[in-house]
Amino acid sequence: MNIVETVRTHVLKRYSERDDAQGMDMYDTHVKYVVEYAKELAKKLNANEEVVEIAALMHDIARVDWSNETHHIDGANYAEKYLTKLGYDSKKIAMVKHCIIAHRGSQSIPRETIEAECVASADAMAHFRSIPDMIYYVYVDLGKELEEGKTMLKDKFERSFRKMIPEAQEIVREKYEAAMVILS
Ligand SMILES: [Fe+2]
Ligand SMILES: [Fe+2]
Repeated sequence: MNIVETVRTHVLKRYSERDDAQGMDMYDTHVKYVVEYAKELAKKLNANEEVVEIAALMHDIARVDWSNETHHIDGANYAEKYLTKLGYDSKKIAMVKHCIIAHRGSQSIPRETIEAECVASADAMAHFRSIPDMIYYVYVDLGKELEEGKTMLKDKFERSFRKMIPEAQEIVREKYEAAMVILS
């Protein structure tokens, strides 16, 4: 099994250990799309595809262990430990770590590599593949009123779109504009 498949198997196992919304639902509605978009961007931008795919698979792994506010840092440390155990190249481990640390849009951590740009943009792009889930979250989980929910969703989509590099915006522009029309 190559390194990416080994990581994917491990990540799937971790997500399947939780039986709430942060488990396989999170993998299927978010992580899966982050991986898909991150790979597409890595190809387009000539980034290291292996590093990008591993980082995309592991970018939210600390959430499985209930980390929220610091999941970018906890996840980077988790990845370092796990990949070191596998004997993965230390330079690539450092690259994966930086991708995971810098993926959070809300923390404005500078992205120093093209690989980190791929993962951070893909994280935001994935939101446009799970619009019904986000609507459900706002109105059912958070119990928002109609107008307040609309504003929240529009803000969220705008922030996600602004967080992306231009190449990423081009890929999801149609979905972004459609969402904004529906919410206006
Ligand atoms: Fe995250
Ligand atoms: Fe994420």
